Amino acid sequence: MCGIIFFKTADLVGIRDFYEGKLGLKLWQDQGTCQVYEFGNMRLGFCLADKAESSGTITFVYADPAEVDAAYTRFRDLATSRPEQSEFFQIYHFWARDPEGRSLEFQCFIDNVEPPREQAEIIVLNPDQTKPKLLLTRMIPESGIKKLKQVFEVHANIADLVMPRNEVLNRISEMDALLCLLADQIDREVIDQAKQLKVISNYAVGYNNIDTAYAAEKGIAVCNTPGVLTETTADLAWALIMATARRIPEAESYLRKGKFRGWEPLLLLGQDIHERTLGILGMGRIGTAVAKRATGFGMKIIYHSNRVKELDFEAEKVDLPTLLSESDILSIHIPLSEESRHLIGAGELAMMKSNAILINTARGAIVDEKALIKALQAKRIFAAGLDVYENEPQLPQELLALPNVVLLPHIGSASLATRSAMSELAAENAIAIVQGKQAPARVV
Ligand code: GLV
Ligand code: GLV
Repeated sequence: MCGIIFFKTADLVGIRDFYEGKLGLKLWQDQGTCQVYEFGNMRLGFCLADKAESSGTITFVYADPAEVDAAYTRFRDLATSRPEQSEFFQIYHFWARDPEGRSLEFQCFIDNVEPPREQAEIIVLNPDQTKPKLLLTRMIPESGIKKLKQVFEVHANIADLVMPRNEVLNRISEMDALLCLLADQIDREVIDQAKQLKVISNYAVGYNNIDTAYAAEKGIAVCNTPGVLTETTADLAWALIMATARRIPEAESYLRKGKFRGWEPLLLLGQDIHERTLGILGMGRIGTAVAKRATGFGMKIIYHSNRVKELDFEAEKVDLPTLLSESDILSIHIPLSEESRHLIGAGELAMMKSNAILINTARGAIVDEKALIKALQAKRIFAAGLDVYENEPQLPQELLALPNVVLLPHIGSASLATRSAMSELAAENAIAIVQGKQAPARVV
């Protein structure tokens, strides 16, 4: 936990010019209405407030929530607003007036997370010159690493961050295998640096981060982790369906903010799920698993897909306009490619029902994020549930500000069991290729 000193200001641009431009302080977080700078081992925060100068605000900083609670209790009679937890910085803060009528601001900043390290830390896990070399761009569950160590000398980035691109570029030339994440862009430049690479094993089912055509041209195999994450990702799509339709995060935060005054006839009315129409865009493995779960809810299932597939439940294949206009809940399960980029744009969103819900657990760029924000702002559709974004990990401020969207940090396959299974499959893929065997899941 670490403290932060927070100031109110009416001029965030001026603050930035001064602290970043003139003093050269490093901007640690910018959340639009708040900026935090690093100053030695302290942090200096500035919140936008219209009357910052004129109201004579005094800021008190407390080290933990208990102190803030105590202060709030002392001044409660004078409080002008209730405590609120900021979703951005975990700043617990409230405003009150002191006996002289000055505005008081109490807040504390709770940061249990270690500040991210800037540097990759690459070590050889099992030095052994006789083995082929594998670059592991980030630590994955142990079960896969165990397998890798039996066959490879594993050069692993043990820092808790995406491996910087220049580190990948610097090391790839002497590697026989690469085990990478979807955040690693394995493009022409990287592939050109690789002198003896035989396999790119992606720790993901989606492989839009890899130039597969160029890898194939260079005789490098590309592998992924399909199948093992299907059911887990389908579970998460359903978590988003439930959360958006019944406004679960909104309802929970309402209660935590102390707004619950008892049962109300019109409180937080959502959409039903049972017996509605579920539209599936892409009836592949995950799309099928999501659709199958809908049979338990007595839903009508329609889908649009390029694949011809035998289904063991009832579902109607339709064209894209029909899918858009008839779905109550539309869930996306296609890979990202040049054809699917921005497949769902303003025109497509306009075809959806006004009470429809859009779920995306596939790839952010399949949806035109700006158009989606506009549709949600204008309440053109009821809600969206998103696990993926166009420019991860960046999210537009406008999206964060919307109440009718449920946002998750790309956790579709994030169960303990599945991430371990992915780890093993990614390892088996790399091992099979260097041993000249057929890989369990080879893309090219
Ligand atoms: C995750 O998004 C994956 O493609 O596995
Ligand atoms: C609600 O709780 C009801 O009993 O209808």
